[in-house]
Amino acid sequence: PAERDLAGRHVVISAGGTREPLDPVRYLGNRSSGKQGYALARTAVARGARVTLVAANTGLSDPAGADVLTVGTAEQLREAVLKAAADADAVVMAAAVADFRPAHYAAGKIKKKDGEEPAPLELVRNPDILAELSAHRGRPGQLVVGFAAETDDVLVNGRAKLARKGCDLLVVNEVGDGKAFGTEENEAVVLGADGSETPVPYGPKEDLADRIWDLVGERLPESDAP
Ligand code: C5P
Repeated sequence: PAERDLAGRHVVISAGGTREPLDPVRYLGNRSSGKQGYALARTAVARGARVTLVAANTGLSDPAGADVLTVGTAEQLREAVLKAAADADAVVMAAAVADFRPAHYAAGKIKKKDGEEPAPLELVRNPDILAELSAHRGRPGQLVVGFAAETDDVLVNGRAKLARKGCDLLVVNEVGDGKAFGTEENEAVVLGADGSETPVPYGPKEDLADRIWDLVGERLPESDAP
């Protein structure tokens, strides 16, 4: 990649996985490690960008040179990302955001009662942050990038998701059989709203991150920075 090609740019990256609380000790969560999002943050810093990293439950140490905001739930992630995106050149949603959250939060720990069946868990939808960002850009020409983890018909499902979300680029990972989640390596196809299709071979998450920044950089409007 061209060195410092993101100088003067502000990029926002979400990473990790949201946790949706049921009561003070329990939550609904997912297996996202945050490693791909952190690789995106490190490579963007190396390429000269100002980086805001919105981190959800990762337990990873802060990447040097990035502004890190920690969040827990999808709603908190949404607020932090939308605020940071107001002046961003690009937003990359690498976080695994819970599609649903418990409809009710119990202020006290939910207890099991002898002889009683457990109460069914009622869920409500979380807002789709990627779709919202894509529909309401923080500034003209802002690039929005999403991720999709698919287990089958990866390209067909990826194209449909790209159109549904309205983002500019969608990084499609094949998951399952120990692929992607929690590992140091990744393999993906990056689909563009312009019809482009960029396969990225199996390799370090840093390499995929650099390819994503290449594709973002090519699509950014000229910088108005001096
Ligand atoms: O719809 P799906 O969860 O497969 O889409 C994944 C992409 O959408 C990821 O980029 C994720 O960060 C984003 N997403 C979101 N808000 C949600 C669910 C997913 O921004 N509620």
